[in-house]
Amino acid sequence: MIADILPELAWTPRTVAGRPVAVLPKSYARGGVSPGTLRFSERTIRQVAAERGPRMSAFGMCCKALVRETWLRHVRRIDFRTATNDKACAAYEAMTVAEFADINRKQAWANWRTIPRNLSDRMPATPIRAVDLCCGIGESTAVLACYAPRGSQILGLEYNRRFVDDARRARYTTIDGAPAAVTFRAQSVLDEFRDARGSRIASSSIDLINACGAVGCHFAPADALRLARECARVLKPDGLALLDSGYDGLDAAALDEIFTTHGFTIVGRAVSCPLDRRAQLCLQRSAL
Ligand SMILES: C[S@@+](CC[C@H](N)C(=O)[O-])C[C@H]1O[C@@H](n2cnc3c(N)ncnc32)[C@H](O)[C@@H]1O
Repeated sequence: MIADILPELAWTPRTVAGRPVAVLPKSYARGGVSPGTLRFSERTIRQVAAERGPRMSAFGMCCKALVRETWLRHVRRIDFRTATNDKACAAYEAMTVAEFADINRKQAWANWRTIPRNLSDRMPATPIRAVDLCCGIGESTAVLACYAPRGSQILGLEYNRRFVDDARRARYTTIDGAPAAVTFRAQSVLDEFRDARGSRIASSSIDLINACGAVGCHFAPADALRLARECARVLKPDGLALLDSGYDGLDAAALDEIFTTHGFTIVGRAVSCPLDRRAQLCLQRSAL
């Protein structure tokens, strides 16, 4: 019981950039009374994360990531920790898929916790259209596929073609094991969003946008402005954007400022564990 409550304390929305976030009280969420939305209990989130997320211990994961990052930096001369987006994309391009999987494992572990915490009591119970920005090899996409209602359509956008090829090879299923409809496209998310066939995504047609380990790591304010404009274009009124904040790229205050000017309001935030200081923000596009 305590184990169930403790993590909630860590991710209950409070303030972002010193301002209270506009959220439904969690008691509301616990009652499961939001009409038309799905609620994921902390117990479910932990169980699903244990079954579908990385199996390694936190210690093992951190050690492996540290060793791999040191190797990349000093032997292969690849430094992916940069908020200059071109440099970040070039660094990922220089890695093998196996190297990327090693350095991304902590992110993959966190995704199985932050995404459902942000979606709980906000995810519509009916099929949705979702876009996973900077989806890498599909590890964040797998979480969206798992938690989205059956019949949903998920599109992963990723700059690196090899990562996209790898993501396409994976099998994506819903929480109850049904096949999920997931497609991918290789493109920069700083360009207008297109679907797997290359058609421009229609305005006001998307319910959910997600980004993990990207905006907070590899985007400067000017990039985030472009992203905010495109997110505002494609999202339906009241649609949600779950966006990671960080240190190298944009922190929560900067994201808040940029997205607020494009009609978004922060309605929640989620962290993977109490030690995680890089919250994934949940922003809602205002109804027109
Ligand atoms: C840390 S990884 C996160 C991958 C995935 N979201 C996850 O959580 O597993 C960051 C990814 O962002 C991608 N990326 C960075 N800038 C991008 C851009 N402008 N357009 C598309 N992808 C980008 C990189 O290629 C890399 O795969």
